Amino acid sequence: MAKPVTLFVCSACGATHKKWSGRCDACGDWNTISQETPLSSGPGKTALGAMKGKRIGLTDLRTEEDAPPRRTSGMGELDRVLGGGLVPASATLVGGDPGIGKSTLLLQAAASFARAGARVIYVSGEEATAQVRMRAQRLGLADSSVMLAAETNLRDILTTLEAEAPDLAIIDSIQTMWLDTVEAAPGSVSQVRSSAHELTTFAKRRGVAVMLVGHVTKDGQIAGPRVVEHMVDTVLYFEGERGHQFRILRSVKNRFGPADEIGVFEMTGMGLAEVTNPSALFLSDRETPAPGSVVFAGIEGTRPVLVEIQALVAPSSLSQPRRAVVGWDGGRLSMILAVLEARAGISFAGLDVYLNIAGGMRISEPAADLAVAAALLSAREDVAVPHDCVVFGEVSLSGALRPVSQAENRLKEAAKLGFSSAIAPAGCKIGADSGVKVQAIADLPAFVGEIFGAG
Ligand code: TYD
Ligand code: MG
Repeated sequence: MAKPVTLFVCSACGATHKKWSGRCDACGDWNTISQETPLSSGPGKTALGAMKGKRIGLTDLRTEEDAPPRRTSGMGELDRVLGGGLVPASATLVGGDPGIGKSTLLLQAAASFARAGARVIYVSGEEATAQVRMRAQRLGLADSSVMLAAETNLRDILTTLEAEAPDLAIIDSIQTMWLDTVEAAPGSVSQVRSSAHELTTFAKRRGVAVMLVGHVTKDGQIAGPRVVEHMVDTVLYFEGERGHQFRILRSVKNRFGPADEIGVFEMTGMGLAEVTNPSALFLSDRETPAPGSVVFAGIEGTRPVLVEIQALVAPSSLSQPRRAVVGWDGGRLSMILAVLEARAGISFAGLDVYLNIAGGMRISEPAADLAVAAALLSAREDVAVPHDCVVFGEVSLSGALRPVSQAENRLKEAAKLGFSSAIAPAGCKIGADSGVKVQAIADLPAFVGEIFGAG
């Protein structure tokens, strides 16, 4: 008999360690590591003993398989993020900060799927059925044929789902579920992992689509959604700034469709409203041309989105000036500042730099580099970029501008929203019919000279 192995697992990222420590090496979080006994002792010599397993059936890869039939909800933004609808026998994780609107989104989704003819069961481990019903009333969904339950015991839930065989089961949230076979508190890494495992295998076995809600937690008291990301087919994150009404549903993993797709919603008094034209929304509070404000023509997933990038540059009283970023990568900002200094001779030493993406949007595309550089220069020189101009392009360390993908689509979106000119890298493939006058620029010094007359 092998000695039982004990492991130390981080509740934030799921990394395993041989011994306890105060800080997880993998994700850098503090106080998130706790001791666990694994279900099987891993690849040790004695794990399976001498007993033989049964032979498993193998099938030929070349067998024709039909594309999975998808079920659409009628909520266009949700269907798009799912890759064109919900796939049966799949598990989807919807993660997000507490209070961001996950329960609201999934209740609305449940009602939409039910209206489209699906049998939907919504299990809440956090709210009583009366509470869910009240929320449904507020959202104007009280008459939809969704079956509700308030339960956290996974054995009972699975028995019920097995008997009812719904098309879609929603579990809100995975951190409240517990299995009586696992000796750990609900919300611990082993409970969350085992519960997710049971639910995903149930989904595959019975052809049921399962959607799990997962709270993102910072304090490590309960395990975050990261520990189940690898088990599910699709991972969606629901994000947004607390003070803003915009919410973005982003697919970060999708076994049945493109990842990095976004759906945009607006939180209203009547629940989440779909935003079918996000560019108009993100640009809606733009007033007269202002120094430091630049419109970036971006691509999110398969869709072009215009967003406003704002920069503020002010003399600093600190020995180490501030570099504050909201909605973009701080490391990338430092890189742009360094390239501006080294290649175009424009220094931000002694200046505080603030960068903000308007509307609570978060951008990860490198194509935003040039727009960020433009916003920084515009703020520093106190010169506004023309009001009707969009900017995009990647900046390389040499100061050269690199072409980016889907230039055509970016320009079409800009034209649609009334912009008449664009600044883009010289190498971009651009047809003549985009409706926008394109100024193609080869490198950062040329950009600085031509746009701001500085250098
Ligand atoms: P909720 O869906 O409960 O968040 P989560 O499940 O992610 O924890 O949403 C809670 C917030 O949404 C709450 O602060 C109030 C707000 N809200 C509205 O603004 N309008 C609405 O119609 C509803 C139902 C909620
Ligand atoms: Mg909730």
